Amino acid sequence: MTKTVLDAINDQINAELSASYAYLAMSAYCELQNFTGSASWLRIQSQEEQTHAMKLFDFVLARHGKVELKAMAKPAGDFKSVPAVFQAALEQEQVVGRQIDKLYELAFKEKAFAALVELQWFITEQVEEEKTAREIAGKFQMVKDDPASMLDLDRELGARQPGADAAPAE
Ligand code: FEO
Repeated sequence: MTKTVLDAINDQINAELSASYAYLAMSAYCELQNFTGSASWLRIQSQEEQTHAMKLFDFVLARHGKVELKAMAKPAGDFKSVPAVFQAALEQEQVVGRQIDKLYELAFKEKAFAALVELQWFITEQVEEEKTAREIAGKFQMVKDDPASMLDLDRELGARQPGADAAPAE
């Protein structure tokens, strides 16, 4: 693996861990607002991001590369509302999606074939994560003036199990 690709993958490990950290802050905010289902969903998502980071971490080591863990920025912890949290989650996923695309492009240019195969999983995963975040953010926008529907949606989100499909039931 070239240094350019290694550096970029180490940056992506940081991005995934930062996403995990950000989801954790979102979870804490929702819990304080008594949206415990949303808080639980976000906590599971935080763990998922950690597994994404570890997938790249293990890949770097399997290629006998040096993992370099970098500083993480303080995540946003104050939000206007629970719907605003999920809007922020959607935007975060869109940023990560663009980062993965750029990383894939770089690996392609550098002819890092093993990295390309590894990154294919991330491209597929990102399509799913963006779709789920878009659906949830959209649903919160739809019901945000109706407390009963908000609580229903919160309950739906609370049904998510670790490792299970992240999308709420229809
Ligand atoms: Fe690891 Fe949600 O992207």
